[in-house]
Amino acid sequence: MSTGSASGTTGRILQVGPLMADLEGALVDRYDVLRLPAEPAEFLAEHAASVTVVVTSGGQGVGTELMRALPALQAVVNFGVGYDTTDIDQARTRGIVVSNTPDVLTDCVADTAVGLLLDTMRRFSAADRYVRRGEWPGARFPLTTSVSGKRVGIVGLGRIGGAIARRLEGFDCRISYHNRTPAAGVAYEYVPTLLELAQQSDVLVIAAAGGDATQKLVSAEVIAAIGPHGFLINIARGSIVDEPALVSALVEGRIAGAGLDVFASEPTAPPALFALDTVVLLPHLASGTVETRRAMTELTLANLDAYLAGLPLVTPV
Ligand code: 8YV
Repeated sequence: MSTGSASGTTGRILQVGPLMADLEGALVDRYDVLRLPAEPAEFLAEHAASVTVVVTSGGQGVGTELMRALPALQAVVNFGVGYDTTDIDQARTRGIVVSNTPDVLTDCVADTAVGLLLDTMRRFSAADRYVRRGEWPGARFPLTTSVSGKRVGIVGLGRIGGAIARRLEGFDCRISYHNRTPAAGVAYEYVPTLLELAQQSDVLVIAAAGGDATQKLVSAEVIAAIGPHGFLINIARGSIVDEPALVSALVEGRIAGAGLDVFASEPTAPPALFALDTVVLLPHLASGTVETRRAMTELTLANLDAYLAGLPLVTPV
């Protein structure tokens, strides 16, 4: 397909934020795409009225102000399953359709959650650093915490949370979960409050969606309930955790450890955590494999093509 128009209108496609090289390449090759500059005022004055479709990613999104500045916007095509950076309420009010990329990344994100859990509890990354520093001949590496059979509490038993739970069944873990309401057709124990889930779990795994509804859901009180022998794993969104409270709890040893792929202010992680071997820090890589990012790119383009052809989005949110 080679068109700069959207849904047969004279509208333009706007790229907001950086995208995977393959996706950017496809957009340039197949469509006539505008790119939002870092200083957008002049650009918006000239082009905003003609933009009907935005292609963006979960990292950037179409926030409240930008959406307001695009009066003709009809569709937001989002690379990523999370769309918390896009003003979804305004989109609904204005009848702007939004797509994301669910399912294709579920396995890789769940794999990362389990890898991060193992690494955090068994301290593989810390042990790797110890070997590289030449410390092995001098002192035994400290004993760690076993994973098999532990009580795991999943915060957000959706597609990704469910895939994490299934994997951890293979480690004989006892799975329970907290959602706003019990998930249909699920045999795992439902725990009605997050505080109770934190109290009864050895490991709390956050797999909920970001956004206003989950902002700082994992509060200082919940972190305290995880306790000095408990661990926190987050592959969802940094916004779901009270990050300063988590950092203090880790620095003061009030929880046993944390494995974090996501942070409140990406692309940075709190420097206070850098010296702690109780913490594993990843650069938001959960979906970052060649296979999954290719599938996400294809699904993003399929949504864009469907919209441009006047068809329903393939994966609307
Ligand atoms: C994406 C993610 O890589 O899909 C999501 O919500 O967090 C990641 O897997 C990211 O959103 C792309 O910006």
